[in-house]
Amino acid sequence: MDLNRFCRTIGKLTADNPVETVPGLIAGHLPEVLANGDLLAPEQKMSPPDSYERHEIFLCPNDDFSVLAVVWPAGIVSPIHDHKTWCAFGVFEGVIRETRYDHCPDGEDYLNAVPVETKNWVSGDVVHLPVGGGDIHCMHNPTDRAAVSIHVYGGNSTKIGPNVVNVYKGTQAATT
Ligand SMILES: [Fe+2]
Repeated sequence: MDLNRFCRTIGKLTADNPVETVPGLIAGHLPEVLANGDLLAPEQKMSPPDSYERHEIFLCPNDDFSVLAVVWPAGIVSPIHDHKTWCAFGVFEGVIRETRYDHCPDGEDYLNAVPVETKNWVSGDVVHLPVGGGDIHCMHNPTDRAAVSIHVYGGNSTKIGPNVVNVYKGTQAATT
């Protein structure tokens, strides 16, 4: 699926459905766009060697959603974070190890997160985060080659900036 058709599809999904269902519905269409080997220009697969890079590849003119390519250099680990807006993503190239977290039990430091599950996602895999909580995670490229993921976020990513509310402390769970 080319980018224009994908973005038209997302626009219709965001307009016609309750927001809680949108990330899952988008994830259902992501495999087709991930299969398009011509989706990204070479410069959209570049990053500095020591930090991940976000490339905006489509911004909805109504600010309903944004499509980004995120490049993860070898070995990079993101902060443990939650999100300002809904999110669906898929792996375009390489491997992403994602760890999901719960909030710590009541009475402990709010910013301590408890690892729940770690999974390796490979090219073609798609993921969506729950809306309105339960969206704490960490992204890690555990390989020695760069990885590229395609993210669809609610809102306009230029206006919103990094899609992060809080950064948490925690460890990874065992890989499943
Ligand atoms: Fe995230």
